[in-house]
Amino acid sequence: MQWTVQVAHSDHRFPCSSNETILEAAQRAGLEIPYSCRKGVCITCQGKVSAGSIESSGTVRSAEKDGTFDALFCASRPRSDVTIAPRRVSRPLGMGQPREVTARVFRKQLVAPGVTQLHLRFPIGQRVAFKAGQYMDVLLPGGERRSYSMANSPAEADGVQMHVRMHPGGAFSDAVLAGLQPGDALRLKMPYGEVEPDGRDPRPLLLLATGTGFAPVASILEEAVRRRWARPLILYRGGRQPDDLYLPEFPARWARRLRDFRYVPVLSQPDPSWTGRTGRVPAAAATDYPVMSGLQVYASGSPAMVASARESFTKLHGLPEADFFADAFIPSTQAGAEAA
Ligand SMILES: Cc1cc2nc3c(=O)[nH]c(=O)nc-3n(C[C@H](O)[C@H](O)[C@H](O)COP(=O)(O)OP(=O)(O)OC[C@H]3O[C@@H](n4cnc5c(N)ncnc54)[C@H](O)[C@@H]3O)c2cc1C
Ligand code: FES
Repeated sequence: MQWTVQVAHSDHRFPCSSNETILEAAQRAGLEIPYSCRKGVCITCQGKVSAGSIESSGTVRSAEKDGTFDALFCASRPRSDVTIAPRRVSRPLGMGQPREVTARVFRKQLVAPGVTQLHLRFPIGQRVAFKAGQYMDVLLPGGERRSYSMANSPAEADGVQMHVRMHPGGAFSDAVLAGLQPGDALRLKMPYGEVEPDGRDPRPLLLLATGTGFAPVASILEEAVRRRWARPLILYRGGRQPDDLYLPEFPARWARRLRDFRYVPVLSQPDPSWTGRTGRVPAAAATDYPVMSGLQVYASGSPAMVASARESFTKLHGLPEADFFADAFIPSTQAGAEAA
C-alpha cells in the first residue's frame, strides 16, 4: 500500500509504501533528515508525527495533548497518510545516494592496542563524495555488513581511512581484518549518516569522542582545517589509559592549524603519573561548560557515553535537543526491539 508523507510547514511531500521506513522513503525522494544507526537505537532520527498512524519497531513516546507523538523515522512505517516534523530537513545539492564501490587496502597499521588504522583506495579515476562525520558499510561475504566512520577529510575522495576496534569473534574486525594485506579488495557501500556539523555556524562546537569515536571527529577537524573554520572547536577525548588516545599527533596538529581549538584529554583509569583530567568525558565537559544553551555538541563513540551526554546536556545544562548530534557506535548485533 502506498501512502503520502507530508513534512509539516513545508512543501516537501513524498510517497512511502507500508513496508519501507519513512527515512528510506525520504532519502529516495532526495530529502535529508538526520540519522545515524538506522537501527532504531541512537535516536538521531527522532522527530514528531502530527497526523496519521505508523507502525514502529523503535521506541515511540506517548502522544502529547494535541495528538502529536515522537517517532524514530528509521524504524517507522506508515499505516495511513502521515504528517511529520523532523528535527531538520534539507534537499542536498550534488550529494549522491549511497553506492557500492570496491576499495583496495593501501596501508594497515596498529595505532593502539586493539585499534587498526586502515587506509583504502578507490579504483583509479573513481571518487566517492562524502561529508565529514559520515560512515560506510563494509559488505561482508554472506550478506552481513559492518558500519565504520570515515576518518579522513572528504577532500581526499580518492580513498577512505577507518579506525577499526577489534572485537573478539568479530565478523569483520577479527575474522577479516587480521588477514587483510595491501592490495586486498573490500566491498563498501557509502556514504551514510546525516549529522554533519556546519562550519559556518559561529557557535562553539563541543566534540566528544571515546575510543574509535575519534574517527569521525578526526574527519570533521581535518575538514575544519581545510575549510578554515572560524568557529571555536573544543575536543574532549576519553579513554581508560594514555594508549587509548591514539594518534596524538592529530590534536597537536589541529592546535597549530585551527584558529580556535582546545583539546581536553580525559582518562577514566589513569596511573598516578597522569596529570590531566580524569573521569568521564560528558562530566568533564559539563564541568567546564555548565551552560550549554549557546553551543552545539557532536558526540561519537560508545552508546553509553553518547546517551549520558545527551541526557545530561539537554536535561541539566540547557542544550537544545536540535543542537545535539551523535554517532553511537552500536554493535551490528544490536537493534531497537521495543515495540511502540
Ligand atoms: C554509524 C556507526 C559508525 C561506526 N563507526 C565505527 C568506527 O569508526 N570504528 C569502529 O571500530 N566501530 C564503529 N562502529 C561500530 C561497529 O560497526 C560495530 O562495533 C560492529 O559490530 C563491529 O563489527 P565486528 O565485526 O568487529 O564485530 P561483530 O561481528 O559485530 O560482533 C562480535 C562481538 O563483539 C561484540 N561487539 C561488536 N561491536 C561492539 C561494540 N561497539 N561494543 C561492544 N561490543 C561489541 C558483539 O556484541 C559480538 O559479541 C560504528 C557503528 C555505527 C552504527
Ligand atoms: S537513525 Fe534512527 S534511531 Fe538511529
